[in-house]
Amino acid sequence: MTQRRKKKSERSTQRQAYGLTVLKAADPRIRQLKRRHEPSIHGNKFWASSWAIIDYLARQRLPANTAVMDIGCGWGLAGIYCAREFAARVTSVDADPAVFPFLDLHARINGVEIRQQCRTFQEVRQTDLCGQDVVLGADVCFWDELIAPLYELMERGLAAGVQQIILADPGRPPFMNLAERCVRDLGGEVKNWDVEAPVKARACLLIVGALPQ
Ligand SMILES: C[S@@+](CC[C@H](N)C(=O)[O-])C[C@H]1O[C@@H](n2cnc3c(N)ncnc32)[C@H](O)[C@@H]1O
Repeated sequence: MTQRRKKKSERSTQRQAYGLTVLKAADPRIRQLKRRHEPSIHGNKFWASSWAIIDYLARQRLPANTAVMDIGCGWGLAGIYCAREFAARVTSVDADPAVFPFLDLHARINGVEIRQQCRTFQEVRQTDLCGQDVVLGADVCFWDELIAPLYELMERGLAAGVQQIILADPGRPPFMNLAERCVRDLGGEVKNWDVEAPVKARACLLIVGALPQ
């Protein structure tokens, strides 16, 4: 294959934005992984709410060496962005072990290393959250039964010294329910976040806490 044709075919199976490479389902490496690993709790693709978190962080920025935990990480792109752009120390957590080969592939092609933990939200203990500065979660509150585990994880995080928690979602009822509770009881705020470029994305951001200026 000539260099020009290869470039064109790569363009159609991968997306570049915010300095990240994200592989599409048609990429041969993703197709190969999908033959052997089947994520079963919706971690079967990259979800667009991550772009809203990435765009928010691109504006807010993170101090170098920030410790970030990406919960319900799936393919892990929000955490990978933090490692790549801010040299953050990232721990990515997911209940489904089948997502990690997809995360490994994306970490490799984006040139970063990411620590991984296979845990449910309930299993993330206060000691795991100690030393974390920021907790991120994109598209993680999609069932009513996830509201309480996520709220309790956020409480444990704040008690452990986490400074900022950022969750993103298109605005599904369970997420809005969680957000309402966090605004009322944890001092959180909800922002509608529209991204026009370099990608088009729209999500609600739930933000609890702030990083020191
Ligand atoms: C919709 S996907 C979003 C993945 C990723 N954050 C993104 O934006 O591309 C939801 C992820 O949450 C994980 N998940 C679902 N329930 C969970 C739980 N109770 N504890 C931890 N992870 C969970 C799934 O395995 C899946 O990877």
